[in-house]
Amino acid sequence: MHLSGSLSSWTTCLSVLSALSATFAPAVAVKEHDFKKCHQSGFCARNRAFADHALAASSWESPYNLLADAGSFKDGQYHGVILKTINDAGETVRLPITISFLESGTARVTVDEEKRQKGDIELRHNSKARKERYNEAEKWVIVGGLALDKQAKVEHEDKTQLAVKYGPSSRFEAVIRFSPFGIDFKRDGHSHVKLNEQGLLNVEHWRPKVEKPAEPDKEDEAAGAGNDDDESKEAGKEQPPGKEDESTWWDESFGGNTDTKPRGPESVALDISFVGYEHVFGIPSHAGPLALKQTRGGDGGYQEPYRMYNADVFEYILDSPMTLYGSIPFMQAHRKGSSVGVFWLNAAETWVDITKAKDAKNPMALGVKSNVSTRTHWMSESGLLDVFVFLGPTPQDLTARFAELTGTTAMPQEFAIGYHQCRWNYISEEDVKDVDRKMDKFKMPYDVIWLDIEYSDDKKYFLFDKHSFPNPLDMHKHLESHGRKLVTINDPHIKNVDGYPVAQELRSKGLAVRNKDGNIFDGWCWPGSSNWIDGFSPAAREWWASLFRYDKFHGTAENTFIWNDMNEPSVFNGPETTMPKDNLHHGEWEHRDVHNLYGMTFHSATYDALRSRKPGEKRRPFVLTRAFFAGSQRAAAMWTGDNQAEWGHLAASVPMVLSQGISGFPFSGADVGGFFGNPDKDLLARWYQAGAFSPFFRAHAHIDARRREPYLHGEPYTTIIAAALRLRYSLLPSWYTAFRHAHLDGSPIIKPMFYTHPSEEAGLTVDDQFFVGTTGLLVKPVVDKDKTSADVWIPDGEAYYDYFTYDVIPTAPGKNVTLDAPLDKIPVLMRGGHVFARRDVPRRSSALMKWDDYTLVVAASRDPKTPAEGDLYVDDGDSYDFEQGQYIHRRFVFDPAAKTLSSADYEGRDPAAVQEGEWMKKMRAVGVAKVVIVGAPAEWAGKKTATVESEGKTWEVQVEFTPAAKGRAAFAVVKKLGVKIGADWKVVF
Ligand code: GLC
Repeated sequence: MHLSGSLSSWTTCLSVLSALSATFAPAVAVKEHDFKKCHQSGFCARNRAFADHALAASSWESPYNLLADAGSFKDGQYHGVILKTINDAGETVRLPITISFLESGTARVTVDEEKRQKGDIELRHNSKARKERYNEAEKWVIVGGLALDKQAKVEHEDKTQLAVKYGPSSRFEAVIRFSPFGIDFKRDGHSHVKLNEQGLLNVEHWRPKVEKPAEPDKEDEAAGAGNDDDESKEAGKEQPPGKEDESTWWDESFGGNTDTKPRGPESVALDISFVGYEHVFGIPSHAGPLALKQTRGGDGGYQEPYRMYNADVFEYILDSPMTLYGSIPFMQAHRKGSSVGVFWLNAAETWVDITKAKDAKNPMALGVKSNVSTRTHWMSESGLLDVFVFLGPTPQDLTARFAELTGTTAMPQEFAIGYHQCRWNYISEEDVKDVDRKMDKFKMPYDVIWLDIEYSDDKKYFLFDKHSFPNPLDMHKHLESHGRKLVTINDPHIKNVDGYPVAQELRSKGLAVRNKDGNIFDGWCWPGSSNWIDGFSPAAREWWASLFRYDKFHGTAENTFIWNDMNEPSVFNGPETTMPKDNLHHGEWEHRDVHNLYGMTFHSATYDALRSRKPGEKRRPFVLTRAFFAGSQRAAAMWTGDNQAEWGHLAASVPMVLSQGISGFPFSGADVGGFFGNPDKDLLARWYQAGAFSPFFRAHAHIDARRREPYLHGEPYTTIIAAALRLRYSLLPSWYTAFRHAHLDGSPIIKPMFYTHPSEEAGLTVDDQFFVGTTGLLVKPVVDKDKTSADVWIPDGEAYYDYFTYDVIPTAPGKNVTLDAPLDKIPVLMRGGHVFARRDVPRRSSALMKWDDYTLVVAASRDPKTPAEGDLYVDDGDSYDFEQGQYIHRRFVFDPAAKTLSSADYEGRDPAAVQEGEWMKKMRAVGVAKVVIVGAPAEWAGKKTATVESEGKTWEVQVEFTPAAKGRAAFAVVKKLGVKIGADWKVVF
C-alpha cells in the first residue's frame, strides 16, 4: 500500500501524497503493534480469560441451560430458550435458540438474546445505533440451501436430552443436551463435532452501566492501551478467578482511538470440538500453513488466536495467525476418510483459538488411528451466534454444501484467467502502449493491462488524468484490436473535495458511512480527506452502479474492468488502519457488526454496476477485490494483498491460494514478483512459473519498485518467463473447465492432496503441491532460492509422467520422488487416468485463440484395464448465453481395453435440444487438431492407422507411435483428426 521515498517528477501530486502518508500512514513494514493482539481486544481477552477459568476449575459447569419445557420441534426445526444464569442469586437471561436441520444435511444453530431482540435495552451516549444483535449477515451471505428437512425427526427425548435424526438416509444425529446446553453431532453413531463440550459458550448479555467511583490506575490504562505488549495488562489476568473483567465493557482505546461501545459488552463465543480430528483447515486469509496450527503454545504453535478482522496489513508477516485483508469463517476438519466442518456466520471481529489434545475419553470412530481431537474456541465481538455444522463425509461434500449456502464462483470471462500485467503505475497512454508492444515483440501472451490509482485526476476516481491519459478511448481501442482489456482501480474512499461531482453526490444524497454522531465520516486514504460509500445502502449501490455507465465514466469502454482495493476498508488514520467501530451504516448498524462484510458490499456493488453499464449489454463483469467475506466468490476474484519480493512470500502464496480454494473462493492469486521490493531474476522467473498455475495470474509491483515487465530481464529469463506464460495460455481450456466445475459445485480450482486423496493420511498436511482441476496435472512450484530439484509427494499408485518429456516417473505411493527442476523447468506431472485439453498455437491473447483447434492429451493409466477420462468446457467466454445452454461440455474417455478414445456430451444432453446461437454455429468449425496418448500400449508398435467415426461418417487417420525408451513412456500421436470439438466422435485404434 504505502508510499515511501520520493519519486520522479512525473506527477507532483505524488510528493504531496508522500507527505500525507508520512503523517497518516505507517511506514513500509508491517508494524505488528499497529494491530491488536488478543489481550488488546477486550472481548477476546475476556473470552480467553473465561476459557482459562473454565478449563482450570475442577468443578466448572457452563451456566447455560436449555429450558426443556420451552422447546418445540416441528418440520425440521427446533425452537427453544437457553437460560444463562448470571449470578449466585440465580438470575437468568433468556437466549432464544433455533436449531434448523436442512434438507442438504447441514444443521444450523442460531442463538439470539431476547432483551436485545425486543429492543428492550438502553444505549449510552445518545447513540442512534440499532439495539438488536446484528441479524442481517444472512441477507448478504446466504443465497440458498436453507430448505428445512421435513424428514428430520426426534428419535429420543428424556429429561436430559433430545436426539434428532436427520440428513441423507438419516445418517446424522444431533444429541441436544439440556443441562448444561451442548450438542453432539454424530454420523453413523459416532461423535464428530461437539458444541460447548468444554463449556466455553459465552453470550455477553446486555446490562446497564453501573457507575462506580473511578479507579485511577484503570483510567490510565484505558487511555494508554494499545501499542503495548505489556502482558501484565492482559484483561483476564488481573481478575480474581471467576470475577468478570469489566475494564473493557464500556469503552476501549487502542492506538489513540477510543471506541465508545454504546451497547456495552455483547460478544458471542463457543467451543467447537472436532472429535478424533488432528487437523483443521480453512478460515482464510492467513499467511501460514494450510493445516492450521495450535494457538495456545504447544509444539510449534502460535500464542495468538487466528484473527479475522479485515485489515490493510501491508507487508504482512509470514507464518502468523494475524488477520489479513479478507475473512471466510469456514473451518474444515479432515482425517483419513472423513471430513466435517463448521461455518460461523458472523461479520464482526472474530478470533479462533485452536488446541489439540490426546483424548482417552472420546470413543474413536472405527478405523481412526489418531485419538487426537482438535478443540476450537470461536469468539466474535457482536451479533448473533450462528453456526452451520457439516458432517461430510467427503471434502467434496463440504465444499458443495458450503456452496449451496454461499454460492459458487461466478463463471469468469475467459480473458480473466489469462495473464494480467499490472504495476503501480503505468503512467501514461504511451507507457501502456509501449508495454503492450513489447509484450508482443517478446512473444509473451497477455490479456489485461492495469491502471492503478495514478490514472485518476488527483485520486478522483472516475476521472482520467487529462495530462497522462488524454485519450483513454483510443487506448482502449488499441488494446481491443488484439483482444486485450484494461482494468482501472476504483476504491471505496471518495476524495472529499469541492468541485468533484462524485463526492458532492455522495454527500448530498446521504450515501456515505456516518460517524457515531450521525455526521458523514471523514478519514484519510490515498486522496487525503475522504468519505466512504456505504455499500449496505440500496440507494448507495444504485448510485454507484450509475457511475459506471459509459456516458458517466468517460473514457471507459466495453473492455474496461474494475479493481476494488482498500475495501477492508483501509482508513490510514483509523484504529488498526480501518474505520471506527462505532461508525454507522445503513439501517443504523454499527460498523463493529458488519466490518468483515463491508468489502463484499462494495465489490458486489461494483459487480452489479458492470452488469448495467449500458441497457441491453450482457457481459460478465470482472472485479478484483482485496477484502472479502463468505459469498465474495459470487462476484469477484481476490489477490493476497501487499506481499514482498522474497522467496518466503512466494512459498507462502501456495498454501494461501489452496486455502482460498477449499473455502469457496478459489479465484485467487498472489502478486507475481512480490509487491514490495525488487525480486532477483531467479525469484521472478520462479514466481512466473508458480503464477502460471494460480487461478488468478497477475504481476504487480509497488510504485517504488524498479520496472520489471517480463521482457526486461535478458536471457535466459526472457525465454523462461515467456515459456511460463505460453504454458498458461496453452492450458487455458483446462483452466476454464476447472472454473466451470467451481461454478457448478464450489470445488476448488487447484486442489490440495487431501481433497483428491482423502484416504491418504500422510497427504493431509501436504500444502506445497496441488492438482489442477480434473486434469490430473500435479504441480509443485519451486519456491526456494537456488533449488534445482523438487520433492513431490506421490499420493497413489497411478502412473505419473513428466509433462514435458513423457518420462515415466519411478514413484511409490505415499513416498516422495525427487525431480530435476533447473530454473527453466516447472515440476508438472501428468497422473495416469486423465484426459485434458490444450491449445498448442501460442497467440497474443486468449481472444485471439478463441477459434483455434484443440489438442487432447491422454495420460494412460498404469492399469491396462482402467480408462482415462477428462472433460472440456467451452462457451463464448464473455456473455451469459451459457445459461441458455450455449456451451460445449465434452467428456473424453480413453478405453485401453477397447482401444478407443471417444467424446460425448458431458451431461448427456441431446444436441437437437440445444438451439444453436451464433457462437455455437461458429464453433462447428473448431476441431481437434491432435491427440497425444502418453503411455500408449506397447502392442501398438507398428500401428499406422486408426479409424474415426463421427457424424455418420467413418475415415482413417495416421497414427505415429513412438516406443518407450530410456525411461520415457511410449506415446502415440494422431494429427488432423478431422472431428469437431462439439460433435460426438470415436477413434478406434
Ligand atoms: C494497495 C494495494 C496495491 C496498490 C496500492 C495503490 O496497497 O494493495 O496493490 O498498488 O494500494 O493503489
